[in-house]
Amino acid sequence: ESRLKTRWLGKKVYAYDTVDSTNNRAKQLAMDGAENGSVVLSEIQTAGKGRRGRTWCSPPGSGIWMSLILKPEFMPECAPMLTLVMAHSVAMGIREATGLEAGIKWPNDVVVNRKKVCGILTEMSAEVDYIHHIVIGCGINVNIDGFPDEIAQTATSLQIEADRTFSRAAVAERVLNWFEKDYEIFQKDLDLSGLKDIYNELLVGKDGMVRVMEPKGEYSGISRGIDERGELLVEKEDKTLQKVYAGEVSVRGI
Ligand code: BTN
Repeated sequence: ESRLKTRWLGKKVYAYDTVDSTNNRAKQLAMDGAENGSVVLSEIQTAGKGRRGRTWCSPPGSGIWMSLILKPEFMPECAPMLTLVMAHSVAMGIREATGLEAGIKWPNDVVVNRKKVCGILTEMSAEVDYIHHIVIGCGINVNIDGFPDEIAQTATSLQIEADRTFSRAAVAERVLNWFEKDYEIFQKDLDLSGLKDIYNELLVGKDGMVRVMEPKGEYSGISRGIDERGELLVEKEDKTLQKVYAGEVSVRGI
């Protein structure tokens, strides 16, 4: 029985056994005319993609490897904020479906007990002033009982954290329900004004010390959460607020 309560998101679902990457498949489908709100799922990804050219470990049948196709009318510069919108939707969907206390590691990793349970990769095809399509890919580790040594310190799954397995459909449906709501709030202002407070409630390490590592140098401060553009506000020792842009920066709790 489906718990999908959306009006437009996931009305068309493309489900595969095997693809290289659901993001790649979604981009092709979008080029070929797939409608706004289409969802692409696959049991297996042979070449799942992470951010910064990394690969995403996607064992068969154990995770939600999913990409959303959006064809919005706003300007391309708004698109990066959607990754933060999605992080909120995933964290809330996981909370509802599992009871686990999922949180967000700025800007867009979803964590449980400080370990990463979901990664998000947004890709866009656009001109300067026109978006053809956006693909938001999200990988949620659901029923995975262990990770290779290299990533076991930082990666986890819902199964590992709850000590039981979950229905992947139940988790995915709740994430989609949340994303439709969150996206509609985002579209009212085309920024995160309407979402930043609920995002910040889930932000791990808020009001704690963080270390910001930028190409031009490092500094420490207190994380005060995001502003309406999705930048992280870091309070320095002299009480001034530094805005940290996602991108070339890494922020670590200390
Ligand atoms: C990251 O944290 O580096 C982002 C990982 C994104 C992984 C998902 S899995 C579904 C979708 N298809 C891909 O190839 N990547 C994203």
